[in-house]
Amino acid sequence: MSADHLIETHLVTKGFGGITAVSECSIGAGRGSITGLIGPNGAGKSTLFNIIAGEISPDHGTVRFDGQDVTPLRPHDLFSRGLLRTFQIAHEFSNMTALENLMMVPSPQPGERLFDTWLRPGYVRRTEAEVRTKALEVIDFLGLRAIRNELAGNLSGGQKKLLELGRTMMADARAVLLDEVAAGVNRTLLKELTDNIQRMNRELGVTFLIIEHDMDLIALLCDPVIVLAEGAVIAEGPMDDIRSNQAIIDAYFGSPVETAA
Ligand SMILES: Nc1ncnc2c1ncn2[C@@H]1O[C@H](COP(=O)(O)OP(=O)(O)OP(=O)(O)O)[C@@H](O)[C@H]1O
Ligand SMILES: [Mg+2]
Repeated sequence: MSADHLIETHLVTKGFGGITAVSECSIGAGRGSITGLIGPNGAGKSTLFNIIAGEISPDHGTVRFDGQDVTPLRPHDLFSRGLLRTFQIAHEFSNMTALENLMMVPSPQPGERLFDTWLRPGYVRRTEAEVRTKALEVIDFLGLRAIRNELAGNLSGGQKKLLELGRTMMADARAVLLDEVAAGVNRTLLKELTDNIQRMNRELGVTFLIIEHDMDLIALLCDPVIVLAEGAVIAEGPMDDIRSNQAIIDAYFGSPVETAA
């Protein structure tokens, strides 16, 4: 356990029927880091994410966020503490504009302001004008001004991903889990997406934990990188070290074409 870790799992195990998806897995994402999580299909990456995000409970082990045991907490509790995972835009929001989607995000971290609500009723609730102002700031930050009045359902895969990042900004996220961030995103928007992840990290101090199969993207964004195989950590370090570790390459990344740097 390390105080420098914002997110930490300790000996987390999760089985589905006869399959052990995650096996005594201990990982950490440093405060202010962009940590990568890689590994072959079925390695348990998404399952570990779902456990951290409170969507499923581990059979054993603990999850800590900002030094506190959050293992039993559900996604909305974690949301209010600033730990978010992104989701595709839900069907019911596809008929709202990009701006309206941002305005729909609930006020962040109400728990921390409980005292204020109690002493000053109404304090927590942002006025619609405040929400709109914040949503427009997020739109500007992400360079989405041109599409702010487009229906979310009409946006491209990459634009939807940017909007998802925007929703984490509306929630004042401190940590964001991104599963397969590049999937379905074209090259131009991928650059915007990675630039924005880096800006959110640098300028807003957001910690990221990112699952991705595109090794070049991982190399560009992430340090350190954690390698998972069969539900357990098999390596951790800078991507250059991981890439040059022949044992890992042979065992887990298959063909030399895929691993050519
Ligand atoms: N809800 C579930 N029910 C049964 N088995 C599951 C469930 N979720 C995951 N698994 C199994 O657990 C193992 C780990 O799956 P997981 O989705 O976590 O892997 P992954 O590393 O995210 O893979 P990919 O790179 O393909 O997304 C796999 O064998 C998968 O079939
Ligand atoms: Mg997965």
